[in-house]
Amino acid sequence: MKYSSASVKVAALLLLGAIVIASGKSVEKVRRPFPGIERLATRREGVVPPKGYVSQSPRTVEARFTSRVNHFDPQNRDTFEFNYLHNDQYYREGGPLFIVIGGHYPINPYFMENSHFRDVAALQGAWLATNEHRYFGSSNPVPNYSTENLRFMRTEQVLFDLIEWIDHLRREVMGDPNARVILHGAGYAGTLASWARQRFPNIIDGAWASSSPVRATANFEEFAV
Ligand SMILES: *[C@@H]1O[C@H](CO)[C@@H](O)[C@H](O)[C@H]1NC(C)=O
Repeated sequence: MKYSSASVKVAALLLLGAIVIASGKSVEKVRRPFPGIERLATRREGVVPPKGYVSQSPRTVEARFTSRVNHFDPQNRDTFEFNYLHNDQYYREGGPLFIVIGGHYPINPYFMENSHFRDVAALQGAWLATNEHRYFGSSNPVPNYSTENLRFMRTEQVLFDLIEWIDHLRREVMGDPNARVILHGAGYAGTLASWARQRFPNIIDGAWASSSPVRATANFEEFAV
């Protein structure tokens, strides 16, 4: 897909303009520009983390979480593991959990380590984490991508992967089951962030969705005018 300079400008405007703070309670300092995200606005690939980025933080830890292949069929006991990364370098006791939602790409610590969201996390004494979305990277719930096997790639399933993982992070990793939770995502990952906030307002305290489409549209040409 080719993007004209007009489309890059539109994308930049969308990025800067379409920022949704679903809850401003613990995110007060979001007025200055977003350097990491601005740079991304000029990337031809769109709102995805740079490929091949390697963690720059010795405190970024790799782990895997076991989730159910199908959260909605009690007869189906199949499980799979997805990758996640977390980092406690800015954490202060009683601080919140800040999550960079993984989108349609392999797991990548870039946004967790270099973004305005990271800066806000540092100010707030937050624990940072990011996940690998089911079906991407090495987080596959199925042995191959036959059409039949794609039936578990639904946002409903993804939201339950997220919510169960968040529960685990708060209880077992942070040791604070009541930690507040703020989500961030760009593009599709941001769509998931806002849906998670909408669906689980008792667990997700805030969501920041950047340049995120929320209405499913076939052949969405407006995105690349
Ligand atoms: C894909 O996986 C299914 C099991 O989920 C299996 O029955 C099928 O033979 C596999 N297809 C290929 C091409 O390996």
